Amino acid sequence: MDGRWGILGYGQMGQSLVRPWLDSGCLQREQVVACVRDQGRAAALYRQDGVAVGIDLRPVLTADHLVLACKPQQLPTVLETRAALDPPPQEGQGLVISILAGVSLGRLQAAFPQRPCVRAIPNIACRIRAGLTGLAMAAGASPQHRELATAMFAVLGQVEQVSEAQMDAFLALAASGPALVAVMMEALADGGVAAGLLRSQANTVAQVMVAGSTALLQKEQWSPSALKEAVCSPGGTSIAAVAELERRSFRAALMDAVLAAQRRCRELG
Ligand SMILES: NC(=O)c1ccc[n+]([C@@H]2O[C@H](COP(=O)([O-])OP(=O)(O)OC[C@H]3O[C@@H](n4cnc5c(N)ncnc54)[C@H](OP(=O)(O)O)[C@@H]3O)[C@@H](O)[C@H]2O)c1
Repeated sequence: MDGRWGILGYGQMGQSLVRPWLDSGCLQREQVVACVRDQGRAAALYRQDGVAVGIDLRPVLTADHLVLACKPQQLPTVLETRAALDPPPQEGQGLVISILAGVSLGRLQAAFPQRPCVRAIPNIACRIRAGLTGLAMAAGASPQHRELATAMFAVLGQVEQVSEAQMDAFLALAASGPALVAVMMEALADGGVAAGLLRSQANTVAQVMVAGSTALLQKEQWSPSALKEAVCSPGGTSIAAVAELERRSFRAALMDAVLAAQRRCRELG
């Protein structure tokens, strides 16, 4: 990819995007300039990744493209700091890609009226290029802008074009979902320990079992209910386990968890 990329916020997600962009050769180190708040952290990240990381917004804003990767609650401070820069920086003209939960395209476009704005919701698996990213483009974005944003995130995994109205729902499932799966796997492993497995065995079994189940669904193009039916024989162990989940309203709990994530996302915006 061409141009310089400014990364405003080089935390968990900023790093989860930039490192695979560098490792894949999509970006070269000298194309990236990032900022954080803490000087010590900036120095450590520079030593670790070899990209320019500082605490100054100016070089990030003047890069051709900007990736906003701070927390949504931190955006007002970022914008105030930007407005106070004297002299005002000559900002880049390229994409502004925001990964901030809940911050609408309208709010982004109002903050960066001259630049094409994009909302991207990547998930954490982007860090190993097995991610999933939802993209919504501002109305004024050109096909070239869409292509560039899509190409950047395609390096990190699958890309879904999502309407802005669906963005919070996408985040709730695709980006918060890994936490739900992690909690489920942890609990399954606990169940294995309760049933007599060693902790290390139980963790491995839970992980390999979930990965295998997902691979099977994909390979066979099965729906989840087809997989469940394939495993549950009449009067067998698996249907006994499923019945227990149903008694505990497991499905309703998961549906409510996704809806809670969506609600929280709306509050953050
Ligand atoms: N976690 C996910 O799976 C996920 C998925 C999709 C979208 N998101 C979104 O990703 C965003 C980042 O989340 P995260 O978990 O990566 O947060 P994080 O680890 O806290 O990173 C935020 C970064 O922003 C920097 N920052 C904050 N205020 C700043 C300022 N005024 N000037 C310069 N830098 C500033 C922080 O600097 P310091 O390090 O010095 O504090 C930090 O590097 C959030 O908006 C979230 O909604 C997350």
